[in-house]
Amino acid sequence: MLAIAILAAGKGTRMVSRLPKVLHKISGQTLLNRIINTSKKLNPDRIFVVIGHQPDLVKDSLLNDKNIEIVLQEPQLGTGHAVQVLSKKFNNFKGNLLVLNGDVPLIRAESLKELLKIHSLNDADVSLITTEKENPFGYGRVFKKDNFIEKIIEEKDCSLNEKQNKLINAGIYCFNWERLNKIINNLESNNNQKEFYITDTISLLGKAISYQIMEEEEIQGVNNRVDLAKCEEIIQKNIKRKLMLNGVTFVNPESSSVSEDAEIGIDVIIEANSHIRGYSKISDNCIIGPNTFLENTSINKNSKVVNTSIFNSEIMDNVNIGPYSHIRPGCIISSNSKVGNFVEIKNSHLSQSVKVNHLSYIGDTNIGKFTNVGAGTITANYDGLKKNITNIGEYCSVGSNSVLIAPVNLGNSVTIGAGSVINKDVKNHSLAISRVKQINIDNWKKS
Ligand code: UD1
Ligand code: CA
Repeated sequence: MLAIAILAAGKGTRMVSRLPKVLHKISGQTLLNRIINTSKKLNPDRIFVVIGHQPDLVKDSLLNDKNIEIVLQEPQLGTGHAVQVLSKKFNNFKGNLLVLNGDVPLIRAESLKELLKIHSLNDADVSLITTEKENPFGYGRVFKKDNFIEKIIEEKDCSLNEKQNKLINAGIYCFNWERLNKIINNLESNNNQKEFYITDTISLLGKAISYQIMEEEEIQGVNNRVDLAKCEEIIQKNIKRKLMLNGVTFVNPESSSVSEDAEIGIDVIIEANSHIRGYSKISDNCIIGPNTFLENTSINKNSKVVNTSIFNSEIMDNVNIGPYSHIRPGCIISSNSKVGNFVEIKNSHLSQSVKVNHLSYIGDTNIGKFTNVGAGTITANYDGLKKNITNIGEYCSVGSNSVLIAPVNLGNSVTIGAGSVINKDVKNHSLAISRVKQINIDNWKKS
């Protein structure tokens, strides 16, 4: 049997935040969620999350996940105390308990599997992940004797000499539960922080071994926002490296970011300062950016998006968007269409080869193929109470600076005279014009 306990009860004082530390995000996902997702990859029998500081907030973030058992640690007297509280839930449990610090978010499932393997092979009482860190400041130092771990001393409890030790404790432990259970209540808090340390179980147990990993980035802990930024940098570096090796060009990789859930095809060029968030998908041969933000958006092949923000929308192939367009959720922009500068589109469907090139607002609107929407056209979709729909047919020309007051329907091949205010439906092949007739007064003088 395998149980996993994620320790997430601490306040995270060093974050200087109103949010519990484990709810801070890297690359769009909370520290806690990352660790839970990694834990699930091990198919454990049980997953516990120990919460304590702002418990309701942390609990809500778990969205009633049925696979997770919540344990309340109140008050929070240290990582060892967290396991003492947890132990009450462990009647008759036989097997291994994997304890994961909730603030070590980058650990990979493969490394955890390796730890479990080494633990079983050696029939150890406890096995833990260690690494040599060039700058070990802040971490517990691991002291070994004849290949076994003898003790762990926290930074704050180390002598000057002990601080020279660069072998650090990652905060990831696999315990033989029955053996841990016998000694877990014998911990003492006579240390600098007056806490019960999980690390003190080592000297109370028998066989303690380490799995030393070379990739120290994987066990980067998050105690403050400098660490948080370090984790983000590590994740981003890996995502972009992988994409580059798979045929994506980043013109200035440091200035751009891509979510782990995004998919990007080959020969896509990501220009500087472009950010691809959520479940976005970019197909082959697209050019994205510079200065572009995409969230949960798919872009089909050969499209170009410059200086633009797009949210929760679908852009088909050969589409040109920007510069300075804003595509809000619920849009489908079909192939060969063009959306130009200072155009905002929301919850609308543009069929193929539609042009909305300049200075427009299009909301809750369907536009048929090959229609041209002139500069400054506005669909007035909101009557003060509700949103209404505008339908514009195929092959229409909407003259510049028109206002289409929804609900309103324009048929196919309709022409709207520039500057019109249209609030009645227009039949196929008609011209609609509604503006004050121009009067020219000859020889006009001011006085
Ligand atoms: C801990 C380890 C240290 C290790 C480092 C790795 C101890 C005593 N020290 O130090 O050896 O090098 O992690 O990152 O364990 N928590 C609780 N309940 C509590 C206190 C903490 O659930 O009462 C949780 C925190 O929310 C956090 C985790 O345990 O997720 C670690 O606590 P933290 O205070 O950050 O420990 P470190 O000082 O980093
Ligand atoms: Ca920590």
